[in-house]
Amino acid sequence: MEQPSRQAVSGIFRRKPITAEVDTALERSIGLWQLTAIGLGAIIGAGIFALAGPVAKADAGPAVSLSFVLAGFASACAALSYAEFGGLIPQAGSAYTYGYAVLGEVVGWFIGWDLLLEYTAIVAVVAIGVSQYISFLLTAFGVDLPAWMLGAPGTGDGHRVDLFAILLCLGVAWLLNRGIKTSARIETYLVFIKIAIVLAVIVVGVFYVRSDNLTPYVPFGFSGVATGAATVFFAVFGYDAMSTAAEESKDAERNLPKAIVLSLAIAMVLYLLAATVLTGMVKYTHLSDTAAFSEAFSAVGRPEFAKVVAVGAIVGIITVLFSFTLGASRIWYSISRDGLLPGWFATTNRHHSPSRPVWIVGIVSAAIAGLVSIGTAAELTNIGILLAFVVVCAAVIVLRYRSPDLPRTFRVPLMPVVPLLGIGFSLWLTSQLMWETWVRFAVWFLIGVVVYALYGYRHSRVGRGEAITGDPGRELRG
Ligand code: ALA
Repeated sequence: MEQPSRQAVSGIFRRKPITAEVDTALERSIGLWQLTAIGLGAIIGAGIFALAGPVAKADAGPAVSLSFVLAGFASACAALSYAEFGGLIPQAGSAYTYGYAVLGEVVGWFIGWDLLLEYTAIVAVVAIGVSQYISFLLTAFGVDLPAWMLGAPGTGDGHRVDLFAILLCLGVAWLLNRGIKTSARIETYLVFIKIAIVLAVIVVGVFYVRSDNLTPYVPFGFSGVATGAATVFFAVFGYDAMSTAAEESKDAERNLPKAIVLSLAIAMVLYLLAATVLTGMVKYTHLSDTAAFSEAFSAVGRPEFAKVVAVGAIVGIITVLFSFTLGASRIWYSISRDGLLPGWFATTNRHHSPSRPVWIVGIVSAAIAGLVSIGTAAELTNIGILLAFVVVCAAVIVLRYRSPDLPRTFRVPLMPVVPLLGIGFSLWLTSQLMWETWVRFAVWFLIGVVVYALYGYRHSRVGRGEAITGDPGRELRG
């Protein structure tokens, strides 16, 4: 392990020491299965429940399963790199910390800054998705909801605000501030229900699969499968958000790599089976754009089971909210602890939760979710994750050659082929994104340049040669 330097260091490429030991104010209380549950909580959500249907219909046909395989392959290459770092640097910041420790402060800063926006936008997208299912269910049970509370302005007749989405974002922030132990326990139950629902969909649905629905299997050719992969990419990340909980994990050096690999592997198996069952139950041309799984069960004459699936989808997608609010707040905590943002943000409450970032993420995501359409919010999401994947894959190669003897509890196989494939796939997927997404990203990036130049560079604890302590806010309070 590298020893922390206590001398001032200048230059934007100064690096944080690589160490598994960290002074943390967070509570180490979660074990392997809870960590895996947080991973599954973040991975399985709107991507399968809301995107598999529309992607099969518009882009890939029954070969949407292959789109999942392609996206999953890209994600798995990055996941292995995350796992190597997870074992080596089990600290709260995930890609931010890995980038900072290997490629230098400025790279870490931009990935961290980028993930703050991305994760907050993901929370908003997912909250809008759940809110739609809630409205659908309440309407199905005959509850008459006023139009003003059903969606953001411009998304439907009389819509003023998406009230359910706002309440969800704030509710999850409140829960997270009760402490990781309480939240992780509730999360584990919810993930259990979610997995049970996906399994039930597979087991019940398989009896309605008809082989003629699966032919032709690739109606739009390979290009359709590839376009589909860029969209369902949304479904295959999330373990990155889980790795931000590293400082709250027991025996993180061993548990984190295992939890990353386990959660992605379990999710991929479930996706393949669920997507195959979905497209086998209903001809892809007849799949619904919303609530595709529920609609498919209604279509084959199982309307009651369709409602159960809708409830499961709501519960399942809520766990994604939990994981990404957790992820954004822990990155914020980490950046502030390192001095690149004010230490005020790194103060933890009596439940060991960095409550200020949690509330900020909750309130900002609630504002986006309440007032912006799901499409606009979704456009903000994939780009930052893909760039984080590129940085983490590059960093794992650099570090393996620069410091081959560090005590790694997990090693990426077939070095450097696997991370290079991760970089190649991620860059290719960014090329499928719309130009407006790049413009929004550039604006956020420029704000990041200003914040770093005016604040971060001068207050960096590594730069000043200061020790990085768990709760700088507490020090400020004396
Ligand atoms: N992977 C997460 C989802 O599908 C973001 O909702």
